[in-house]
Amino acid sequence: MAIAMDDFQGSLDRLVEILRIPSISTDPASDADVLRAANWFSDAFTSIGMQSEVITTKGHPIVLAEHPAPAGAPTVLYYGHYDVQPADPLELWDSPPFDPQVVDDENGGRVVARGAVDDKGQVMCIVEAIRAWFATPDGPPVGIKVMLEGEEESGSPSLDPFLESHAERLAADICVVSDTGMWDAETPAITTMLRGMIYVDLEITGPSMDLHSGMYGGAVPNPLNVLARIIAGMHDEDGRVMIPGFYDGVEEPSPEVMADWKSLAFDESAFLASAGMESHGGECGRTMLERTWSRPTLDVNGIIGGYTGEGAKTIIPSKGKAKISCRLVPGQDPERLEAALGAFVAERLPQGWQMNIESHGRNPAVVVPNDSPWLDAARDGLAAAYEKPAVVIGCGGSIPAVGSIQSILGIDSLLVGFGLDDDRVHSPNEKFDLRCLKGGIASHVGMIAAFAGLGE
Ligand code: BES
Ligand code: ZN
Repeated sequence: MAIAMDDFQGSLDRLVEILRIPSISTDPASDADVLRAANWFSDAFTSIGMQSEVITTKGHPIVLAEHPAPAGAPTVLYYGHYDVQPADPLELWDSPPFDPQVVDDENGGRVVARGAVDDKGQVMCIVEAIRAWFATPDGPPVGIKVMLEGEEESGSPSLDPFLESHAERLAADICVVSDTGMWDAETPAITTMLRGMIYVDLEITGPSMDLHSGMYGGAVPNPLNVLARIIAGMHDEDGRVMIPGFYDGVEEPSPEVMADWKSLAFDESAFLASAGMESHGGECGRTMLERTWSRPTLDVNGIIGGYTGEGAKTIIPSKGKAKISCRLVPGQDPERLEAALGAFVAERLPQGWQMNIESHGRNPAVVVPNDSPWLDAARDGLAAAYEKPAVVIGCGGSIPAVGSIQSILGIDSLLVGFGLDDDRVHSPNEKFDLRCLKGGIASHVGMIAAFAGLGE
């Protein structure tokens, strides 16, 4: 059944409205705005005709909207996040990150703002598709539950307890998530692998205070020099991670999956160019798709320490700190790897030094079934919006909720995203193409129709 989406301007206006709210989950100064964004979405669901609630957690609240299933019809649980990454560095934005700009371009226009593609634009594809179904005489042909969290960008610390305490209420036949990408603007994609992650703040302390580097330099080890040496030792010349046991259990994709990836004919140079790069990093002897989809990584996200002000100050700093994350693949155990990382650092510290590791979340990699009636229905739904058939892909990013929804609720997810490689996710000038917003809404309209066919 085709539904008219005759109010695209209205959909775009609503997206612009929610993009104005700086719901940065990691920044306590934004707490009130995070709550405002939750309320905005909840009100949107109520205005569509759903029951909706903003439910408190230990962290940021979760929006839960529901509409019962017609007799015999399946229930679809949608998951998304209304929080966004911090916008810094602000000076690199062409327009303020929370003053959304709709810009004309050769691709039919784009909306530029923090959260445009990750994930507010993609959540709005779902919201607007549900809105379109509510405008039909019979309403949606499936049961609908929508769960939006406000802490995805900070590792979803409050989600698992929420899933445990609301398991019955969240019961559904399938979960649908739009927080990933398309293959390209014409080719929709269904993602079946997400990497997991551990993220730690690692702090080492040597001297009991910052010291004069003339008096003590050469006589006592410098924590930042030591930290740099330890970090340098975390990879070998071939890009392999040197932490003992790091690759234990890592599973290789099946020959079929490798053949599928090969047939995608990925343009590695164009991908590197999108990052302003001519040469690659990572493990030697692996394709770029393996490096980003099926191989684990270790990266330093930031290094903090010592004197970073104007001019010169001559010190041996007391402490050094690094923010380190690992992307994990199937077979790797987050807790074991975090312990192995700690042991690697501890073994390399000078006598008597202290080390502190603070975890910012651990989540394993996720694989979702790549042959199911739900996946076929998603393909059919996407075919209502795109001429090219959907391809099945992996994803280098992480969405902790998908693993939790699988392990706690026992529900598999369909990851159907509408982002493009040049959307600048987590970067300045993040954008979402209007063609993706339009295609995303039409796809979700089509998927709902296709899911209805999977009833009893
Ligand atoms: N939407 C992203 C995941 C993603 C990134 C999908 C790039 C496709 C392409 C998600 O919101 C995200 O950024 N997740 C974080 C999770 C982390 C904080 C636990 C990530 O991957 O860094
Ligand atoms: Zn996201």
